[in-house]
Amino acid sequence: MIHRPRRLRKNAIIRELVAETRFHKDMLIYPYFVEKGKNIKSPISSMPGINHFSPDTLIKDVEKGLKNGINKILLFGSGEEKTEEGKSAYKKDTVVANAIKLLKKNFADDLYVITDVCLCAYTSHGHCGIIHDKYVDNDSSVEAIAKMALTHAEAGADMVAPSDMMDGRVGAIRTLLDKNHFENTALMSYSIKFASSYYGPFREAADSAPQFGDRKSYQMDYRNPNEAMNEAFLDEEEGADVLMVKPALAYLDIINRIRANTNLPIACYNVSGEYSMVKAAVAKGWVDEKAVVMENMNAFVRAGSGLIITYHARDIVEKGWI
Ligand code: PBG
Ligand code: ZN
Repeated sequence: MIHRPRRLRKNAIIRELVAETRFHKDMLIYPYFVEKGKNIKSPISSMPGINHFSPDTLIKDVEKGLKNGINKILLFGSGEEKTEEGKSAYKKDTVVANAIKLLKKNFADDLYVITDVCLCAYTSHGHCGIIHDKYVDNDSSVEAIAKMALTHAEAGADMVAPSDMMDGRVGAIRTLLDKNHFENTALMSYSIKFASSYYGPFREAADSAPQFGDRKSYQMDYRNPNEAMNEAFLDEEEGADVLMVKPALAYLDIINRIRANTNLPIACYNVSGEYSMVKAAVAKGWVDEKAVVMENMNAFVRAGSGLIITYHARDIVEKGWI
């Protein structure tokens, strides 16, 4: 009888030696919710451990994370005036633009700042684009979204991440950034973003739930892996530097397939609902937090994701799980 596989699992040393998947903290990106105001640190009830911060308290929290090697963050803004066309999204002094400036003033290039670019927190109807005749109008939305990306780049963002799912927005953003000499501002596209119920807690946190209808006319149908590949290839052609799959856990097959079909870096977004489900089960004492979180992170890496956006990032480094 051949015992070869079991010989390679005999103890921790040999298991480490032959491990095929290496999850590293450099892969982690930590999301933040930034809100207008001062001295705010208010917990988000459906996402234990995650808070809203105002720019001043954000700085203090980012500093703590940096000590443990969390040097890549993704910013979401809220609290700006909501209008039909989401115009406040591309004001020069949004809370996001101000937060970027403050972060760059404090941490310069020790911190890599990524911003979410989308209109849904700025439109009165909560959709990710401008509505004409009950539907999202692609082209006028793309124009507004590109302007929003430019304000973030001007404020000092290292990377912009459009999450709206309009067609052509990657190309439009790239063109506008280049025209304004932001050639070094990178672009991570939420390329394959499914219409998912796992975004529920986030929409409460970002105050961005659609007031009518749903997002199914612009986000992807989770039954369509071929269409998902098309979306990703278009973004690659239009100049995206990183392609993202979102959510992550229920879409490991998609991560794996896109990994096999592009040479660009792949990111996955371990979204709010995925996080909240783990936290809820942990609170009940039903699962071991460290064990399930590390199992999930290794699953993302094994599937082919080199970048992981996750609300668990701080726990992973601060509790010494890695
Ligand atoms: C908005 C946006 C959403 C998320 C990131 N950007 C929600 C949505 O599309 O409804 C979800 C993030 C999460 O659930 O953690 N465009
Ligand atoms: Zn949106």
